[in-house]
Amino acid sequence: MKHILSAAQFDRAELEKILALAARMAENLKSDGTRLADGKILATLFYEPSTRTRLSFETAMLRIGGHVISTPDTKFSSVQKGETVEDTIRILSGFADVIAMRSSEIGFAERAAKVSAVPILNAGDGAGEHPTQSLLDLFTISKYFSLDKKICVTFVGDLKFGRTVHSLTTVLRNFPNVQLRFVAPDELKIPEKYRQPADEIFTEISPEILKTTDVLYVTRVQEERFADRAQYERLRDTFIFDAEKISQLPKKSIVLHPLPRINEISPEVDALPQAKYFEQARNGVPVRMALISYVLNLIG
Ligand code: NCD
Repeated sequence: MKHILSAAQFDRAELEKILALAARMAENLKSDGTRLADGKILATLFYEPSTRTRLSFETAMLRIGGHVISTPDTKFSSVQKGETVEDTIRILSGFADVIAMRSSEIGFAERAAKVSAVPILNAGDGAGEHPTQSLLDLFTISKYFSLDKKICVTFVGDLKFGRTVHSLTTVLRNFPNVQLRFVAPDELKIPEKYRQPADEIFTEISPEILKTTDVLYVTRVQEERFADRAQYERLRDTFIFDAEKISQLPKKSIVLHPLPRINEISPEVDALPQAKYFEQARNGVPVRMALISYVLNLIG
């Protein structure tokens, strides 16, 4: 059985297969989707807030002809009564053919996968990973740059708690020409386990960094992960990208953000040609259509 639990599970061949499948799904979307998943059911189980991820999973399932059942909030589920994740999954995997889930606990999806009779899709496990987001990020990057050419991806913001960064750096390791660069204050720096010796590390943004960046990946300071509120308040606006800063990037560069953004990208940037974060979010649908089809073995 195929689960999607961590970005580390993919090798280059599998990533390329998923990207190709996502491109096919994007084509299908132009004519309303496909009926590949006719009769299948996706359950979405989200124990943390979400707009894009849950709704794009659900849209993806509907666009491949399947159905959706959902418990968008633990307030309405038996977790509130003290049910364990394992029991919830045992039950749900008797109802649905695939389960997409999110929780604030690192490793939650692995726990679920151990007892599940159906594929588990990790839609974010606390400050751990967000592997399906990393695939839509990779898909978006691949629309603008060949992953075989030398490109520089600069990650900025909360690299410590930002799970999308953890997963995207991991998938990018499969492409040796991609240079990774991390910009964060010490309190938010990238964890050792996601670092490699050739990476470039900075604590502040400079004109030189901007000038030599192909993909600027901006993240939100993850308020919900801070034990110390004052520390969050101090760090939340460390980086703010306005039109002036973005204009220092190369013309052909792109700006990504997993969203939601708070203050880190000013709204005036949205109109600039480099701003691709809304397109990135839209790519969540074909990529998740591909992922659901992949784990359900609906295509050869
Ligand atoms: C991200 C997440 O939940 O980790 N959002 C998303 O799924 N697109 C990023 C974030 O919340 O900052």
